[in-house]
Amino acid sequence: MSKHFTRRNVAKLAAAGTLVGLSETTGVAQISQGTDTRTAHVPTREFSKGFYWGTATSSYQIEGAWNEDGKGPSIWDTYAHTPGNIQNGDTGDVANDHYHRYKEDVALMKNMGANAYRFSIAWPRIFANGTGQPNPKGLDFYNRLVDELVAAGIAPFPTLYHWDLPQALQDKGGWQNRDTTKAFADYAGYMADKLSDRVHHFFTINEFRSFVDMGHQGMDVPISGGTMHIALAPGLKLSRRELNQVRHHAVLGHGMAVQAIRAKGRAGTKVGPAEVIELAVPLIEAPEHIKAAEIATRERNAPFLTVMLEGKYTDGYLKEQGADAPKFTDDELKIIGSPLDFVGINVYRPLIYVLASDQLGQVSGSWREIPFAKGHPKMFNQWLTLGPEALYWAPKFVQSLWKAKEIHITENGCASDDVLVDGDKIYDTDRIVFLRSYLTQLQRASADGVPVMGYFQWSTMDNFEWTSGFGNRFGLIHVDFKTQKRTPKSSALFFRETARQNVVA
Ligand code: FCB
Repeated sequence: MSKHFTRRNVAKLAAAGTLVGLSETTGVAQISQGTDTRTAHVPTREFSKGFYWGTATSSYQIEGAWNEDGKGPSIWDTYAHTPGNIQNGDTGDVANDHYHRYKEDVALMKNMGANAYRFSIAWPRIFANGTGQPNPKGLDFYNRLVDELVAAGIAPFPTLYHWDLPQALQDKGGWQNRDTTKAFADYAGYMADKLSDRVHHFFTINEFRSFVDMGHQGMDVPISGGTMHIALAPGLKLSRRELNQVRHHAVLGHGMAVQAIRAKGRAGTKVGPAEVIELAVPLIEAPEHIKAAEIATRERNAPFLTVMLEGKYTDGYLKEQGADAPKFTDDELKIIGSPLDFVGINVYRPLIYVLASDQLGQVSGSWREIPFAKGHPKMFNQWLTLGPEALYWAPKFVQSLWKAKEIHITENGCASDDVLVDGDKIYDTDRIVFLRSYLTQLQRASADGVPVMGYFQWSTMDNFEWTSGFGNRFGLIHVDFKTQKRTPKSSALFFRETARQNVVA
């Protein structure tokens, strides 16, 4: 006979002397009542063995040294240097000066108990104009960084494209130009050749949806009480048809990069995307609403995750876009759907809540979108609608829809209005509440058997938060941008303890 007990039941039984054994690792308890010995499944709060506890950053947001050692300009240099685009006129020219301070930063990560680090490589540091002769000094920097990480016992997880396209390629049409996909694949293959002796995981592209849609048209994001418009570099305002073609080129570039990494990387090198999943979360967890949310998630991700993981655009997407749908060939779809080793997802919030509509069964129109209540809690950022269950449903749907063998949470975190007190303390209680509640949901997915292998907290340290500049502090480590002094926040202690125990506590 087997019965499920809650933690409280078990505590009571233990107090009454009837609990005869509890395995901390399996969560299986043996309960003895008279002659009747039963097994209770007690939910543990543990993550899988060998779990990657990482933190994340990106090149433009931390490196600085924007024109040093042969680096060419990127579209973010251009965009940030254009008055009016970034709050307070901030730029990433110096940012965290990580280019010169990477050793200190790696040591800080080690102290925080991280065993993995997701960073990005600045394409224009390697190929100043996007193609042509590689720049040895640029490559050197990443070689030194990777060596430093490996020596500290931190697994390097580089992303090849976190939005800083070489300006020279933008001048030729950027992602609107199909040639950019080839240039990207060549650069990806070059990096795999140079780093895969020490790097075993590569992410191709970060957040397709953000840099494509927000960068090439601008996007309205649903928030409590309405929507919020977000635009990013290069700040274009393309038509729907043009935008769809850029979307297609981005996923094609990803697929070509996957193939280039396979061709040039050492055997066993793993590769996958890091996409911000457009997640539909069931408002109520009943089978019909869960199904509706799963269908909505597949459709909402049609131009990015879905086509990468299925090798085809959904009928719903092609129908909805009509004459504006992207132009593509079957061969291109095959490349886009190249087999992956893992799926990386950035998860901050539910994009929408849904319930089943009356017409459940039809592919489109089978879910009802539920608007966020006016008083729905949010974090410091207007766009960061609180919804910890997103970190359960996102990996859960990636597994149920696409049978992913390995899933990494490539970003999750929040900004806070952090202030230094008592000289050198930052009591970011809001960030700790956020992390604990989200990680509890991630652990729930893991306990369900979802193959979640890594979690990367955004961000290692405060940095240049795109159009918000330095005013949005996402770090576990506080940075004084005048002095470059780094100070771990209370949340860094939380992270360290969570990683140490491999348990959400
Ligand atoms: C994501 C970006 C990352 C950072 C966080 C807050 O969209 O990938 O660079 O800005 O948001």
